[in-house]
Amino acid sequence: MIYVIYHSDTGNTRKLAELVAEGAAAVQGAQVKLVSAADLNYDEAAAADAYAIGSPDYFSYVAGQVKTFFDKVLNDGRFKNKPCVTFGTHGGGAKVLGVLDNLVKAVKLKPVAAGVLVKGAPDADGAEKGRALGKALAEAAK
Ligand SMILES: Cc1cc2nc3c(=O)[nH]c(=O)nc-3n(C[C@H](O)[C@H](O)[C@H](O)COP(=O)(O)O)c2cc1C
Repeated sequence: MIYVIYHSDTGNTRKLAELVAEGAAAVQGAQVKLVSAADLNYDEAAAADAYAIGSPDYFSYVAGQVKTFFDKVLNDGRFKNKPCVTFGTHGGGAKVLGVLDNLVKAVKLKPVAAGVLVKGAPDADGAEKGRALGKALAEAAK
């Protein structure tokens, strides 16, 4: 099972999360769960094979709901060394992906592809990159 975990207030990151999930689900045999960080069941998520984690840029950082995910999994061995990718949306500042990637390293998830960053809502190019990101994750999780 691949978990696509995200936060979104105005829909941009949710749309990108849906595209990542779509790309992952297109890989034969892949099962995908799309869930907002605030609604995450950590015991269920701990059994996943791989994670895509996405956030809007809030004050050049991740959203609090996404930060909470990293806070909780830091000392949880069930989340270690699993394939992971990151994605984010921003309004022009574009810092969020670097923050996400540092947090992924800090909790010892295993990045398997370069993250995807989109300004505002994903356009056709962002959609293609989002789907490709999901596909890369699902291939790595096989
Ligand atoms: C509280 C708040 C803080 C934000 N801070 C930044 C920022 O520092 N840099 C930036 O590029 N965009 C910033 N934005 C814009 C959002 O990152 C951008 O609109 C994003 O696509 C929203 O994602 P969502 O539609 O999934 O909620 C901020 C938005 C909000 C609501």
